[in-house]
Parts: sequence; structure tokens; C-alpha cells
Amino acid sequence: MKLKKMLYAGTFDPITSGHLDIIKRAAELADVLVVGVLTNSSKRCHFTLEERLEMIDIAVAGIDGVVVDSFGGLLADYAKDNNVDAVVRGLRATMDFEYELQMAQMNARLTGGEAETLFLMTDPKYSFVSSSLIKEVFFLGGEIKGLVPDEVYDYMCLHRKETK
Ligand code: COA
Repeated sequence: MKLKKMLYAGTFDPITSGHLDIIKRAAELADVLVVGVLTNSSKRCHFTLEERLEMIDIAVAGIDGVVVDSFGGLLADYAKDNNVDAVVRGLRATMDFEYELQMAQMNARLTGGEAETLFLMTDPKYSFVSSSLIKEVFFLGGEIKGLVPDEVYDYMCLHRKETK
């Protein structure tokens, strides 16, 4: 049985191949998968919201049932306001677990149990990947091909000169 609506939220600064792997697999589990980009991330983002959304749009083009949105405030409020049945999260390693458990339990409390949190294990190919590491390696001239979707790699190369 498929869920009606799932939410995959994050900062996506930038979207990586690890994120895209989760998106493709989660999209199979729901009629609609919303990729929700945080507008008020506590992280200092390198890419603007518009750039992050643009990169996600090109990465998910052609994947059925995926829509891209942005939101601020609590994830639980977005989930309640938008009839989200489940929040999907990717687990890369045991180090992710404690943080994810805390967030899942807090979100369960905040949504009154309306939205479950579902975990997908990250493809081991991408278990070491994070957006911060991608940015650090890329802007210091290292090779990140394959660790971000090809179209995102091209986008990052094109925008490299405009980076601070
Ligand atoms: N592949 C590759 N990288 C992955 C990954 C995967 N499968 N899963 C996670 N990551 C990386 C991310 O790129 C990110 O890297 P970075 O720290 O270098 O940027 C890192 O792991 C953490 O990712 P994530 O946990 O998704 O953090 P986030 O900041 O992108 O998103 C939210 C966290 C959006 C889920 C959370 O902050 C939130 O819900 N915010 C809204 C406010 C709220 O409701 N707060 C209360 C929460 S209970």
C-alpha cells in the first residue's frame, strides 16, 4: 500500500547524490513526495534558497510524483498543514541515529502522531557524503563528480565564479 503524501525536508545546500537516492526510493512509496527546502535553516547556507530550489528542480526532473516546495518554521506544522502522512529521513551511519531519534520523537509529539517518521538506509556508496563536505572539497578544487547529480555538478561549475 502506498502512502498518500510523504515529506523529505532538508537544507539541501546543495542536494547530493545521497539525497537523490533517498528521493528516488521514497517516491516509490508514496503518491506524492514533497521535497521541502528549509527557508530558515540554522545553518549558514552557501547557496541562496533560489539556487538550492533550482538545483533540486533539475535533479528531480523526470521522477514521477515528486514536487518541490519550501517552508519556514516547524516541520511538524508544515506536515500538519499539508496533510503529510510520513516524513522520510535517510540514515547514513549510527552517528545519525541519536539525532534522528530525537527529531522523530519530537515531531511525533508536535504532530500528535499525525505524521510518522520513516527511515531509509542510505546507499553505502554515499554513506560518507554530506553537503558541507561536498562544498569544502569542491571549492578547494577537489573532484566531486558522481557525489552530486550530474546536472547539479554542471550548475555548481557554472556558478563557481559567483561564489563568495
Ligand atoms: N545523503 C547525503 N547526505 C545526507 C544524507 C544522505 N542520505 N542525509 C543527510 N545528509 C547530510 C545533509 O546533507 C546534511 O549535511 P550538512 O550538515 O553538511 O549540510 C547533514 O547530513 C544533515 O542533514 P539533515 O539532518 O537532513 O539536516 P538538514 O539541516 O538538511 O535538515 C531538518 C534538518 C530540516 C529535518 C530539521 O532541521 C528541521 O526539521 N527543521 C525545521 C525546524 C523544526 O521543525 N525543528 C524541530 C525539529 S524536531
